[in-house]
Amino acid sequence: MEALKVLALLVVALLSPVTSSIVYQDETSDATLSPGDDEVHVRQYPSPVTVNSRHDQPPLIVNDSLITDFMEVNPLEVDGMELFEGDIMLTKEQWRMLKEERKFQNYGSELYKWQPGPSGFPLVPYRFESSVAAGSAAANAIAAGIAHWESNTCLQFEQTTNTAQPHLRFIVGSGCWSYIGRLFQNFPNGQQVSIGRGCETMGIVAHEIGHAIGFNHEQSRSDRDDYVVIHFDNIRSSASGNFNQRNTIDVVTYDYESIMHYSTKAFSFNGFPTISTIDSSKNHLIGNRDALTFNDILLANLMYGCITSWEDACGMSSDSCEGEGYIGASCSCVCPPDTTGSNCETPIPPPAVAEDGCTQTITTETTFTSPSTNGLSCTVDIQAPECHTPVITFTQFRLYQKVTCENNQACCYYDSLELREDYPNTASTMYCSTDLAGQTITAGSQRVVLFYFKRWSSALLEADITFAQVPGCEPATPTTTTSTSTTSTSTTSTSTTTTSTSTSTTEPPTPPKCTIEVHNGVFYWISPLFDENYPNGRTCRVSGYSNTAAFHLKSIVFDLDTTDCQDYVLLTTLFGKTQKYCGDISKINFKSPSFNFILDFVTNDMDNSMGFNISLAPRITPNQDCHEVITLEAGQEYTLDSPFFGQGKQKKKAYCEWRLVAPEGSTIQVKQLISRIKPSSDCNKDFLLLNGNMEKLYPSETSLQYCSVFNTMDIMTTETNMLYVAYQKKRAKTKGFRLKAMVV
Ligand SMILES: *[C@@H]1O[C@H](CO)[C@@H](O)[C@H](O)[C@H]1NC(C)=O
Ligand SMILES: *[C@@H]1O[C@H](CO)[C@@H](O)[C@H](O)[C@H]1NC(C)=O
Repeated sequence: MEALKVLALLVVALLSPVTSSIVYQDETSDATLSPGDDEVHVRQYPSPVTVNSRHDQPPLIVNDSLITDFMEVNPLEVDGMELFEGDIMLTKEQWRMLKEERKFQNYGSELYKWQPGPSGFPLVPYRFESSVAAGSAAANAIAAGIAHWESNTCLQFEQTTNTAQPHLRFIVGSGCWSYIGRLFQNFPNGQQVSIGRGCETMGIVAHEIGHAIGFNHEQSRSDRDDYVVIHFDNIRSSASGNFNQRNTIDVVTYDYESIMHYSTKAFSFNGFPTISTIDSSKNHLIGNRDALTFNDILLANLMYGCITSWEDACGMSSDSCEGEGYIGASCSCVCPPDTTGSNCETPIPPPAVAEDGCTQTITTETTFTSPSTNGLSCTVDIQAPECHTPVITFTQFRLYQKVTCENNQACCYYDSLELREDYPNTASTMYCSTDLAGQTITAGSQRVVLFYFKRWSSALLEADITFAQVPGCEPATPTTTTSTSTTSTSTTSTSTTTTSTSTSTTEPPTPPKCTIEVHNGVFYWISPLFDENYPNGRTCRVSGYSNTAAFHLKSIVFDLDTTDCQDYVLLTTLFGKTQKYCGDISKINFKSPSFNFILDFVTNDMDNSMGFNISLAPRITPNQDCHEVITLEAGQEYTLDSPFFGQGKQKKKAYCEWRLVAPEGSTIQVKQLISRIKPSSDCNKDFLLLNGNMEKLYPSETSLQYCSVFNTMDIMTTETNMLYVAYQKKRAKTKGFRLKAMVV
């Protein structure tokens, strides 16, 4: 690891820096590029720290019955036994089987099934322990949950007083949990199912009974990766094992709506989702605790041989029901929700708008208003036309305020809005409170998925959605624009693609461009015709703008013609520092305290090579306290210390940026600066930068740069109400700085 870094520094040092010839521009197109050249803006969303740092924000008044996710009431330990997947208790034998990775299935294991009673159908005896008071919420919910299973399957439940037999012992314990399957060896005198506080609903009871009859969680299935993405980073550490995948035999298709599926934020420690469905329109479906679904019922009926029993009882030798339909207790077909008819022969088309009235795909400019339904989890998939990016202006943004989550982090728990470009992979910044009120967000990609979670009845969201043209971008396939999209939706998709050949013959083909890919929140900038040979006489540019993140640039593949460095990539970062890369190098590895940069790719008219694939990773870690917006009040004095200031030698590196924000109309005076920064030529190793003009790239003309040891008074006063401070520390001998500022 260390060796790699040293090598990386060496390579960078060997490459000759060129002097600055780039015009600084912020979020506008660049006149120094010739027409037809590519320019792509990679833009980070403003962080919640930035938009939520005003102290004058009116506090939201809390008066709401906030729904508690039933997962939250589950303790992780019950009577000294570990809870498996949150609400499942395992016996020692089951633990052992899991550890030995023997098959632990939700289908076909006779051992764990309830046995037939006198009627020939499986019988589940049960009783209430004394903690379940007659007529209590728990007792009523248990009765409803049992009735729900009985009316949909051939399982029969019988209240019993005979404790000398395997049976379910319902208790009001801590949380909602159950063992999986019938455990007659471990519990010959009954096994417990806890319906604790907050668990007293029919759906949760149906879920726990699901475990008791042998069901695992839906997202533990072997095939779950085809349907969902698990965000392990957001799962509280003690619960990460709950998302383990298991070796299951899956006899029915994966069911997002299964009563056994976790919800999007189950076991989240920070309010961020822990599960995303790969198909964005299914996100709002997971976590159902209302009722059993067709597939839940089908699985139980298959497991317990209900269907063959019913066929026999109905005197039918075969099943006349189409698709997944089957003969039910009433001797007629039970059809999947998307079919009807006596033999399930008639398909039911899916509804045009999702039942929640919110989940939708937006492809034309429109205004989005959130429905007032509570307990909403919906997905708005915004897809701009080619060469356009969504621009979202929040005219209303009033969500529940941040709460303190685990690790004392402030998080958007009850209500949240998340904007994701690389859906469904990374879960990124979460907004709530009035974070985005009046804000406009310009996406850096063609598609943005809004993920809205609402549990507070007064929450309100309204946004104007428009599409902005990406400068210099021309669609690869000419389309017949949006005029066809008014009437029939089924025919438009074919009509747009067929016209491309006739129009492209008259116009010269578009020159190949640099492209941007996003995988897991990392941007990849890729040269034109990468892997073949890049074209001659081309330039393209990518620029990044952000309020908070640092970034890390790395070459995945880098192979440019070496002749006098005529073909090159030029990186421009803070204070006009540039770095020129050419040749065949695999070890570009560059870090900056701020995500703001410009990258230019320039080729001459001769010789070419394979090109490059460079990664640009924003570096934001939740606990990183050195990217911060600090709001100051009128007259306030503030001391800003770098990490490790006054602590002697510290090997740890730091890439930090702070924004001091004074009230509108005032300025910030830097009264004293104590610098303990080890000098380097051109301050290219460790440095401190100050800018008082709100210039994200800290241009050398208007910024101050320090890399030496001193103590000076009255350094500067800002032109605006903000002071930008960037700091980079790579070496142990740099011991930081202390800056004393005052609002004037
Ligand atoms: C809070 O809401 C409840 C039920 O909606 C209502 O009865 C109560 O008066 C409200 N309290 C306040 C302080 O507004
Ligand atoms: C660029 O590199 C990343 C990371 O290795 C990879 O996922 C991506 O597919 C590459 N892109 C191209 C066009 O090769």
